[in-house]
Amino acid sequence: MTDPEAGQTTDPEAVLGALVQRAVAAELGPAYADADPLIRPSDFADFQSNAAMSLARRADRRPRDIAELVADRLAAAAAVASAEVSGPGFINISLADDWIAGQASAQLDDPRLGVPRAEQPQRVVVDYSAPNVAKEMHVGHLRTTVVGDAVVRVLEWLGHEVIRANHIGDWGTQFGLLLEHLLDVGEQAAYEQLAAGEINVFYQAAKQKFDDDPAFAERSRRRVVSLQSGDPETLRLWQLLVHDTEQYYSTIYQRLGVMLTDADLAPESFYNDMLADVCDELESLGVAVISDGALCAFPPGFTARDGSPQPIILRKSDGGYGYDATDMAAIRYRVRDLGADRLIYVVGSDQSLHFAMIFAVARQAGWLTDKVRADHAPIGMVAGADGKRFRTRSGGSVKLSSLIDEAIDRAEEVIRDRYDDPEQRHQIAQAVGIGALKYGDLSVARDSRYVLDLDRLLALTGNTGPYLQYAAARIRSIFGRAGLDPAAVRSGPIELGTAAERALALRLLGFGRAVEDVTLAAEPHRLAAFLFDVASAFTTFYEQCPVLQAPTPTRQSRLALCALTLRVLVTGLGLLGIGVPERM
Ligand code: ARG
Repeated sequence: MTDPEAGQTTDPEAVLGALVQRAVAAELGPAYADADPLIRPSDFADFQSNAAMSLARRADRRPRDIAELVADRLAAAAAVASAEVSGPGFINISLADDWIAGQASAQLDDPRLGVPRAEQPQRVVVDYSAPNVAKEMHVGHLRTTVVGDAVVRVLEWLGHEVIRANHIGDWGTQFGLLLEHLLDVGEQAAYEQLAAGEINVFYQAAKQKFDDDPAFAERSRRRVVSLQSGDPETLRLWQLLVHDTEQYYSTIYQRLGVMLTDADLAPESFYNDMLADVCDELESLGVAVISDGALCAFPPGFTARDGSPQPIILRKSDGGYGYDATDMAAIRYRVRDLGADRLIYVVGSDQSLHFAMIFAVARQAGWLTDKVRADHAPIGMVAGADGKRFRTRSGGSVKLSSLIDEAIDRAEEVIRDRYDDPEQRHQIAQAVGIGALKYGDLSVARDSRYVLDLDRLLALTGNTGPYLQYAAARIRSIFGRAGLDPAAVRSGPIELGTAAERALALRLLGFGRAVEDVTLAAEPHRLAAFLFDVASAFTTFYEQCPVLQAPTPTRQSRLALCALTLRVLVTGLGLLGIGVPERM
């Protein structure tokens, strides 16, 4: 018995892939059963298979001959309406309407909407967000936060076990001046400033004194020594500073509706106690060596511009540890103590070299193996409308809470005319504003540079959050007018009388593949693109096919298709961390 909770795939590409594999094995022999069916969307049919080309070489036959044989077998399958060979050996395949309709009905009836759980659940550590205590959390951190949150939601929904790691920067020499400044302004005043997110103001003031006042600079240096040697009063002050700043982060996380909590904090200082041992282990393995007084590792293949081998620095010549050492400790801890099968680092693309080197050294040490995979999911820069690094209208660096406020205010302008009740309007504006901001980060390839332009992100047309939310709201209003609850619609039968209905139903069947695609390389934009295609197919359907005015049984079928579209949109947006207002 298969587990009904596990879900069944409705993915046409998977189903066609299996059919092609079976046909190939029947024609060429069982040795070919594992051949890649190479199914792709096609301009000439629903899909095409390019398998015959590579099989021809392997089997030493003409690609067209193989394609003909496979196409004949495919055409006999119930799911397939037609399979025709074109060119040197492509097979163009169209699915049978009945089959699509049957799959869509099954998807509607499935609590998991045709998305099976992972057959081999993994334990995955996702490292994301990771702002710094001494610096303002900026739009770059917003992006790693939002992308990481979507990756986490998708992995968990597929049944993987996720450990969220917020690798906050809470350690380093800059804490000397921050702590002395905290003493100068007083604990209460510091708290008020930091918890309100005025971190840059606080830092700038400290830095100014450090530069102008030699006595302050001297105090700051002594404070670093006290911090590193574990002086209790200094540690208490440091904890205050860290805690105050974390207060601010958690308000941001709550406003954004991201899943990070205090329990997910895995700050740099967490690894302090492990650093000496990590260095010892790497040294005894011969992976790390002393160079100019510092303990370094030289991973093979990494060279500086002048061709000399490039190191990561594990322990500086003065005995101090830095970012490299902490990340080596983190990787060992995650593999060895947390037992992770996979590590995903959702971090800015400017740190690509850092992670490539850390991973390379971890492989040399045997911490990363064939069984434990580590990926850096690089995040591109967020630019302002002028193409430069994002700034506020007044030109300053952007406080995240103000950016969120602005998105909500502008969303309220967009929907102003539709709602008289200010309370309701504000609630909807919140969902729309935050959804637009997040969708902006999620809809573009995560490593691309992207322009944060609130006007574009809030548009009701195009590939935007509000467009998708609006499609869902429209479906709800159809059900509202009919006095029906869309959640109660659990079965069709779905019939596909028109091209628009067929196109929408076929799209919806691809949900599972889109969700799965997110996990391959930690790319939420794959799911966003799918949802946008669904919403576009729905728009065409909505323009061409009357729902409530249609005669039964067409009305029934179209309502079922609407209900399925709504559930896929709401579930999919939910996996991206985006809420859908009841009305819009
Ligand atoms: N705090 C760092 C920054 O703001 C990001 C940390 C990323 N995670 C890590 N394990 N290094 O750039």
